[in-house]
Amino acid sequence: MICALRFETHSDEETRAAGRRLAGFFPAHAVAVLAGDLGAGKTTLTQGIAEGRGAARAEDVSSPTFTLIHEYGDPVSIYHIDLYRLDTAEEARRLGLEDIFDAPALVLIEWGDKFPEILPADAFRIELTRLELADGEEAREIRVWTPGTEMVCT
Ligand SMILES: Nc1ncnc2c1ncn2[C@@H]1O[C@H](COP(=O)(O)OP(=O)(O)OP(=O)(O)O)[C@@H](O)[C@H]1O
Ligand SMILES: [Mg+2]
Repeated sequence: MICALRFETHSDEETRAAGRRLAGFFPAHAVAVLAGDLGAGKTTLTQGIAEGRGAARAEDVSSPTFTLIHEYGDPVSIYHIDLYRLDTAEEARRLGLEDIFDAPALVLIEWGDKFPEILPADAFRIELTRLELADGEEAREIRVWTPGTEMVCT
């Protein structure tokens, strides 16, 4: 995986802005795992990506934690999936993920790294990390990894 991009954001709005900038980075047909702890900003980033792609307004993008799959655009150009509540790869497969991966859309999967065996080999990885700043400010590091050769992201 090549680390292609890195952002540091200091508010949820900055994370949405990073998402809007990221929107053009992914091909029309791609799968990207959103990795990061609870509250890291995965859904917030997705709001920006969906807006940047012209698929939805940020305020219309909500967490799929309980609904599991949200679709945006007509025709659908973004699938937003959350595997947090699933226990097994089999449950994830039963959602019909293989068909969704084949669809001509950008598929964003929160907690997708829980079941690496169900992901396509060419999935992107977006990693969100809370940064501890001295002044107690809430900051996030967002790193995007492109499938390819192994490389360290600095
Ligand atoms: N720099 C920042 N970027 C993103 N979110 C931030 C930032 N600073 C503070 N926040 C807050 O952190 C929370 C992030 O929530 P969000 O639902 O996007 O996280 P998530 O990673 O999707 O969590 P979950 O794993 O529960 O789905 C929001 O309440 C947001 O306001
Ligand atoms: Mg979320």
